[in-house]
Parts: sequence; structure tokens; C-alpha cells
Amino acid sequence: MNTYKIAVIPGDGTGPEVINEGVKVLKAVSDRFGFDLDLTWYDYGGERYLQTGEVLPEGAVKDLEQFRAIYLGAIGHPDVRPGILEKGILLALRFALDQYINLRPVILYPGVDTPLKSKGPEEIDFVVVRENTEGLYAGAGGVLKKDTPDEVAVQESINTRKGVERCIRFAFDYCRRRNKGKKVTLCGKTNVLTYAFDLWERTFYDIAGEYPDIATDYAHVDATCMWMVKNPEWFDVIVTDNMFGDIITDLGAMIQGGMGIAAGGNLNPEGVSMFEPIGGSAPKYKGKNVINPLAAICAGQMMLEYLGEIDAAKAVEDGVKKVVSQDLKSLSAGRMGYSTSEVGDLVTDCIK
Ligand code: IPM
Ligand code: MN
Repeated sequence: MNTYKIAVIPGDGTGPEVINEGVKVLKAVSDRFGFDLDLTWYDYGGERYLQTGEVLPEGAVKDLEQFRAIYLGAIGHPDVRPGILEKGILLALRFALDQYINLRPVILYPGVDTPLKSKGPEEIDFVVVRENTEGLYAGAGGVLKKDTPDEVAVQESINTRKGVERCIRFAFDYCRRRNKGKKVTLCGKTNVLTYAFDLWERTFYDIAGEYPDIATDYAHVDATCMWMVKNPEWFDVIVTDNMFGDIITDLGAMIQGGMGIAAGGNLNPEGVSMFEPIGGSAPKYKGKNVINPLAAICAGQMMLEYLGEIDAAKAVEDGVKKVVSQDLKSLSAGRMGYSTSEVGDLVTDCIK
């Protein structure tokens, strides 16, 4: 029997509640499909930081490197200044574990409401491949003459040929595996960011030459936002940098039915990957048993796929599809018609 060592970081806000439901579902599929999940829980997050002053303790990364994958709830606490936990935990792990891809599917499941009135599941089915270790997120830059009228702040976008190339190559490989629209769209801003996106563009067409079976397209990031709303069916795989990927995947989450269902994977195809719902810690819903756990459950499904447990992943996906089309009134917190734990039970019942 295969045993997978998984680190679980429930994190802040509603993270623990949604991760509990995700783990419930993962346990159900592992029983049914005959593999074992060896879970180790970590308390990294805002509470721990407020008590100890520590974001990630010494040795945390080395420790996490021993796992096959990390299952993460959410990082972000209302009593901690923005940036400390995000940079100290979430980005620190993405960078230290070299999770250079942030893979974010935008799929509208049957029965789910989208704000796009003329679009359905046929039209909304694409994946964003977001570069996850460089760009504006690299933290390059600095500040001069702080708190004076002459203050200068510089925040630079770092784009390396190696980083851009491995991301684009992943996008083409993924597009081939996905085997749907067979098209990769580069999302950039070549008309203004003429250094960074010149590198992206040249690399994109170099790599595209190795994939004659896959069509290419290009859209500026502002136009990408427009087309995602107007003609989402044009997209199959979108590849883009870290900042643009962050922004367009929130838009993607909305057109696929909201944060309640949007999941993502921080992938290091040669190392330890980390799966998370993309919606954040939603502190106002914390402890109320009203948050939608489906995004966390879908993140678990992506983790199963990554572990190679394809039948188990499919069973979770089918369960989610059934629950969204037949049971839930809405995907929004408090309006589902069920509590957080009941939604976890509904998916679990489909699996048993
Ligand atoms: C995301 C989040 C993070 C990001 C924040 C919390 C640092 O918005 O995962 O998309 O910007 O990457
Ligand atoms: Mn984001």
C-alpha cells in the first residue's frame, strides 16, 4: 500500500475549518482507494506568531522538505500587520521549496452560478500557470529617505531566463497533458514592460517551437481581464508572471463561482508541492461553521492528482460536482443551505 507523508498547515481564520473538511474527504478516498495518508500537523500562522514572535521556526523548511506535499489552509491574521505572515510563511515556503508554478484552474462546474450571464461550463474551462518565485514578488528594491518628503521607493520585477523558461515549459507540457483546447496564451504587457516581457515573449516563442501540436496566443494583461469576462472560451492554458497571475486568478475565481470553489497548487515538479484554497483566511467567518470548504476540498483533489492517485482525484471531483449541482443553494459563505462540516459530509458521502 502506498503511504504519502503530508504536512498539514491549517493556518489562520477559517483555514482550520476548511482543512478539517478537506482531510475528512481525503481520509474517505484513501480508505476507498487503498492508500495511506500519513499526516503531520503544523501550527504555523498568525496565532503562533502573536504568541512567539516567530513566523517559521528554525528548521521548518528542512522539516517540510521530508514530505511529499503540503496541504495548506490560509495565512493572514487581522491582528498582524499585512505582509509579515504572507512574506514570512506563505511566500517564504513558496520560495524556499522552489515551488515555481502556481497552477490555478478556472473551471465552472455544472449547476454553479457565474456572474457571466451568457456563459456556462462549456465556456469556462481553463488553467492559469502563474510563475511563483520571481517577478515583483522577489522582494528586490528598497527605500531611501523614509518618512521624509524625499522618500523614494523602488520595487523591481526580477525575471530570469531560467525562471521564465521553466514556467513556460511547464505550461506547454501541462497543455499537452490536459489535451483540451491545445493552446497556450502568454499574458503580459509587452507594450510597456519592454524589458521583462520581451524576455517572456522571446522565451515563449522559443519554447513554443518545441510544441508544434500546441497553438500560441498573446494578450496584454488588461485585455486578458477583458477577454476572461467577454470570451473566456478563448482560453485553454494562460501562462503569466507572478503579479499578473495573482490578479487574473482572483478574476478567474469569480467567474468560476467564487472563492468558495477556487483552488490552487504551488508546484515544484521536482520537489515538495503545496496545495491551498486561494481565498484567504476570511477572518469574519472564523469559527462560525459557515465557510465553504469546497475550495480546500478541490485543493485536496489537486494534491491527489499530483500524487498520482488519479481515481481518487476523480472521485473527489465527481463528489464536488454532484454537491454543487444537486445540494448547495449557493457557494457563498452562510448561503450554502448547509454548514461547513455538512458540506464536507455531503462530499464524503459521495465517495464512500
Ligand atoms: C495568493 C495570495 C498571496 C499572493 C498573498 C496572500 C501573499 O493573494 O495566493 O494569490 O499574492 O500570492
Ligand atoms: Mn492572490
